[in-house]
Parts: sequence; structure tokens; C-alpha cells
Amino acid sequence: MQKLTITQPDDWHLHIRDGAILKTVLPHTVRQFARAIIMPNLKPPVRSVDEAAAYRERIIAAIPAGQQFEPLMTLYLTDNTTPKDIIAALASGFVKALKYYPAGATTNSDFGVTDIRRCDRVFEVMEEVDLPLLVHGEVTDKDVDVFDREKVFIEKYLLPLKQRFPKLRIVFEHITTSDAVNFVLEAENVAATITPQHLLFNRNALFQGGLRPHFYCLPILKGEEHRQAIVEAATSGNPKFFLGTDSAPHTRNNKENSCGCAGCYSALHALMLYAEAFERADALDKLEAFASFYGPDFYRLPRNTEQITLVKSAWQIPAHIPLIESELVPLWGGHEIMWQIQ
Ligand code: DOR
Ligand code: ZN
Repeated sequence: MQKLTITQPDDWHLHIRDGAILKTVLPHTVRQFARAIIMPNLKPPVRSVDEAAAYRERIIAAIPAGQQFEPLMTLYLTDNTTPKDIIAALASGFVKALKYYPAGATTNSDFGVTDIRRCDRVFEVMEEVDLPLLVHGEVTDKDVDVFDREKVFIEKYLLPLKQRFPKLRIVFEHITTSDAVNFVLEAENVAATITPQHLLFNRNALFQGGLRPHFYCLPILKGEEHRQAIVEAATSGNPKFFLGTDSAPHTRNNKENSCGCAGCYSALHALMLYAEAFERADALDKLEAFASFYGPDFYRLPRNTEQITLVKSAWQIPAHIPLIESELVPLWGGHEIMWQIQ
């Protein structure tokens, strides 16, 4: 196949930050995606509908002139989120979900939930009004091996949560293990997003000839058998698995640092990376539904009607993208890949 025309996709998990970085990264997303679920982990996080409304306006102001894009907002769940916040979120029309970060699990998660049981009143209302919960599924226990944190989270928190709230719709974000795939396959009202890095790379990428900070994200890349399970899920045609890049820009100096930040910048070339991964799995025919159908179906939004065409033609991912005082290093920067947008 040399050319692939698909319905325009959406990104169901995206970090675009704020201020100058927002203005640099948003056009990359807008070039490929019609809508995106915007992560709320700003400093301080987006916790109220008013904060989400103001952030949404700043995003809309950063859309390049003449282009279409709809930011789908989320609120950051904390120990202090109330049922009233959920009702307000639903009434806003533009807040589509709440994001659950275990406190301390990842970038800007200090305001996250300290004990999931504290949110039961909130989950009850979310279940009732059918507002999805987006979960960063990793335990924060420093005694648990970093490669096991997703698996342990499922056993310790997700299974019990599902038992308490069987109808609560959950997106298990950026899954990385066969354990997560199996959990999603079996659980009712649960879907999952999958990133390009977890489809294309295993944990060896972190240590290829030296320490490779631009492959460091959370949840961390896993072993090859897990990568294969993720590829199988994404290319299976099962509507429980859909596209969410988790593109998470950090400046080069914050990545190449004695304590480097977690996050891969993929917004520049996300769709091309997914095409690469699906072609390697001989499953390009499954890309459209994964990228463009199953996400809106889960969120109960209309599918997009525009189309986008990918052409098979080698190009080199830029090694860096300039920012005012630093730069971004795209995921797999400098590497040649086979697909581009026409
Ligand atoms: O690698 C990550 N980066 N994982 C997350 O969960 C957060 C994200 C970020 O915001 O940088
Ligand atoms: Zn994320």
C-alpha cells in the first residue's frame, strides 16, 4: 500500500501545556487531529470548570488561523473534588472526563488522589451521570518495581474500583502490559488508550548504547512480550482499544538532566508513527477504526467526517524543534520513517 486515506483521527490523550509551549505544539496536533482530550496536569492543575473554561479559551486562541480543532477538556481529580464539581462538569458540555492521577505517580501529580476510597462519593455521581474516569494506572509505592507498577495497580485498585462501580466508564490510559490488555478485555465499561512509543519500542530503547532520556515516559517502556501484547490489542479491531498519544513536551534541558522529566514528544508525527507500527504488524487496514472510530464511539461523540491521506514516502524525523529558550526533541528524532501526511 502506497497511500492510505482515512477518516480524520482524534487524539484521546494529549498534553499541550500552556503559554509559549502551547503555541509551538498545538499546530502539530491540529495538522493531524480534529479533536483531542486535553490533560489537566498544568501547574497548578485544572480542577474546576472555570479553570477548564479559561484553559480552553487559551487553547482556542492558539489554533492556527483558518484551521479547525476542538479541545475536549478534563478536570484533575483531587481528594477535594466534590459531587457538585461533577454536576458542573457535565453541565459545561465541554468537560468530557475526569483524570485520576495517584499522588506522586508522574509529572505534576502532586495534587493527585492520596487514597482512591476518598473519591467514592464522586465516582458514584460520575457513574450515575455517565462521565468517564481517565486513569493513570500505576501504584506509587517506592517498594514496587517500576516495571510492575501497572500490574500491581490493576490488582490493588482497578479491580476493586470496578467491583464498587461496575457501570463507571473508565479509560485505562496509556496501557503498557499484557496484564492491562487482559484486564481491559475482561472488564465491562472499560477501554484503553495506546501510545505510539509503547507500540514501537520496548525497554531496550532506553539503554541503546547509552542512556536515552527521550524514550523515558511513564508508564515506562516494558519488555518485548508486553509490547507485542499492546500491538496485538491495538491491531485487533477490538473497539476497547484506541489512539491516545500521551504526547508530553518537556524542554531538552529538562529531559537531558540528572533528574530528567518523563514524557515523549510525539504530537509532531504521531499519526505517521502509528502508521509505521500498524504496517509492521501488517494491519494498516485496522488503523482507521483505532485512530478515528473507537474513541468517539466510547466518548459518545460523532465520528469525524473529514479525511486525511497518508503517503508512503521516507522522511527524517527532525532532531529538534526550536522553542524560545530551549528546544523539543521529538520521539525518535533523527530517525527515518516511511509514512507522511499528504
Ligand atoms: O510520561 C509522562 N509524561 N507520563 C505522564 O503520565 C505525564 C506526562 C507529562 O505530563 O509529562
Ligand atoms: Zn499523559
